[in-house]
Amino acid sequence: MKGKKHLIMLPGPTNIPDQVMRAMIKPIINHRGPEFHALYERVTENLKYVFQTRDDVFILTSSSTGGIECAISNVVNSGDKVIVPVFGVFSERLKDKVIRRGGEVIELPVEFGKAPIVEDLKQIVDLEKNVKAIALVYNETSTGVTVRDLPKIGKVAREKGIMLIVDAVSILGGDYLPVDEWGVDLCVAGSQKCLACPPGLAVISVSKRAWETIEDTTAKPYYFDLINFRESSKRRENPTTPSLPLFYALDETLTLLHEEGLENRFKRHEKCARAFYSAIKALRLMPFPKEKFRSNTIIAIDVPAGVDNTEVRKIMKEKYWVIVAGGHEKLKQSLLRIGCMGIISEKETLLTISALENALNDVNYPVEIGAGMAEAQQIFHL
Ligand SMILES: Cc1ncc(COP(=O)(O)O)c(C=O)c1O
Repeated sequence: MKGKKHLIMLPGPTNIPDQVMRAMIKPIINHRGPEFHALYERVTENLKYVFQTRDDVFILTSSSTGGIECAISNVVNSGDKVIVPVFGVFSERLKDKVIRRGGEVIELPVEFGKAPIVEDLKQIVDLEKNVKAIALVYNETSTGVTVRDLPKIGKVAREKGIMLIVDAVSILGGDYLPVDEWGVDLCVAGSQKCLACPPGLAVISVSKRAWETIEDTTAKPYYFDLINFRESSKRRENPTTPSLPLFYALDETLTLLHEEGLENRFKRHEKCARAFYSAIKALRLMPFPKEKFRSNTIIAIDVPAGVDNTEVRKIMKEKYWVIVAGGHEKLKQSLLRIGCMGIISEKETLLTISALENALNDVNYPVEIGAGMAEAQQIFHL
């Protein structure tokens, strides 16, 4: 049907409020002029609120991967030891970024579906000498796992004088992440996930402690040189021409986020995640992660034996107008992943559960239609 919009329940990009989309068609302004300076100030102040930081934040015109590359390349010199827990595709990619930078990776392998715990990291930092940083994915999008020990890991890193670099791409704005309180030195997220903004921007927070390390980094990157960003920020500008339409969109979405309040936003994500997990149980499906590691922003479901996830997704999209994702790489066929992000509410949650149970029924998987919906509704109407 022409003009009808799908519900985008991917693990990013996600659904975007109309006013955020409309903000992008505002006229172009001088990125070195007073209108931009006011915009820059407002956006960075609101971003500090999201990161819960009093330190510096920057907005980069790149996807989140660029933001992570920025973090790594500003602190890791050739030969520096970096601990990287690997428990999914994005932590694997984080490891690769450190290797490409010439860092020496100390890998902590963790079974997919589980998250690294503080005891394991402590063991490594007690053994290894001269560790420069721990680089960690807070929310592993490929498996639907959140590192609930992050605050404890931050404490260990502080005590040992080790930098903490966090990929929070699929969680910032959707779950707790007070970077100052938890001792996160460099934290990166993307615009297209829990911030409910179009793709194309990365955001990064930089702690005071991180600056000392950044200043000592020998081969500084060019486009992502954070010292350049810090210098330009004194003029309330970016070093190079920013994507103005995306800045407008980020401004709008952060204003909405601020109005809602972080605490309310986290509770909304948590409630919708709870509704998804209850519905999954009622449909006799299994979430992929172990219970204590389950994410509130990515719902990863084990596809039951005999069910073709490509077919289920196709039916969900074409018949019920809901788009969800499959798995990544070796989990490609075995997972269904749903983004519980951004503007997620009862409406999007119930529509997705309904589409899922109907699509499963359509592929002759034995589900009681309505069972998932009934459980989810209980959560919303308790
Ligand atoms: C945890 C995590 N890190 C990094 C990325 C890469 O983000 P982008 O595609 O915006 O570069 C993603 C994207 O899904 C992600 O989920």
